[in-house]
Amino acid sequence: MHFFIFILTLLSIKFLSAEELNLFTTRHYDSDVEIFKDFTEETGIKINIISGEAKPLEKRILDEGESCIGDLFFLADAGRLVSAEKKGVFRKVNSVSLKQQIPEQFRSNYWFGITKRARIIYYNPTKTSLKELENLNYEDLSHQRFDKSIAIRQSNNVYNQSLVASMIENNGVLKTKEWLKSFVKNFSKPPSGNDRAQILSVASGESKLAIANTYYHALMASGKKGKEQQNAAKKVKPFFPNQKNRGTHMNISGIGVLKHSPNPSNAIKFIEFLLSPKAQKHIVDNTYEYPMIDSVEPSTIIIQMGINFKQDNQTNVSSYGKWQKEAFKLMKDANWN
Ligand SMILES: [Fe+2]
Repeated sequence: MHFFIFILTLLSIKFLSAEELNLFTTRHYDSDVEIFKDFTEETGIKINIISGEAKPLEKRILDEGESCIGDLFFLADAGRLVSAEKKGVFRKVNSVSLKQQIPEQFRSNYWFGITKRARIIYYNPTKTSLKELENLNYEDLSHQRFDKSIAIRQSNNVYNQSLVASMIENNGVLKTKEWLKSFVKNFSKPPSGNDRAQILSVASGESKLAIANTYYHALMASGKKGKEQQNAAKKVKPFFPNQKNRGTHMNISGIGVLKHSPNPSNAIKFIEFLLSPKAQKHIVDNTYEYPMIDSVEPSTIIIQMGINFKQDNQTNVSSYGKWQKEAFKLMKDANWN
């Protein structure tokens, strides 16, 4: 009898550890689940999804330590990936194919960018001419001509922290500190709401400019958020800043293998699968992010927004994590609520 139980236990351990992967994810897309099913069909490896917010999931992984059954951690924003890396959440991964496919600035030894997103400016062409925005940089948003005209969400938002961190990386702490003082004075209202709320503020004429990630505008334009938001999306136009210098601020959604993953080789296989043209196409068509690999086209809506802009190809996204705390401190000091 004992022997029988022993065999059963062995079998169940084998089943759990060899044929399943436990994925911790902060992404809440049904489309992600669909593509994970394809991976299961191709490999026989089942994906169990544990979804939640970044901080509680990270805490759970750290608290559980060696007994954590998780294999992978999928996060939005490089700032969060670096923060998890620093706490020792991930294990080092050596994959030639991942290195070849992902440009150096979008990966580390511990995590890998799967999709890209741009944080850009939106304007209402009936109120602001394109001429007014010619050659505009993020740096110019502190100018007095934009007094009380910019809509942006709160400083506790990681996308904003990463944007400011990229400015620290490129312009230094002192210049960014000065820039923030004037930039915050240009807010049209006290920051509140998500990225879509900022775009709505420009559509209604309440604000002259908004800052938001590209996929939010695409999501509104798709009609998936209702007719009202679709109409609002039509009223605003995207503007890609910093075209004459480093390029538009880019961020990533990325994934890493957990330090105590019971199945690291399958976990790497899964990351490699996410970089395959089929998976990339499926993800970007549903989430309106930019693909990490060049052979895949973004979704039609994203193409319509314009894809021939210069992406920041010189700033390593790791720097968003490096400067995250400093960025947040400077934002708070500048009274960015
Ligand atoms: Fe988002």
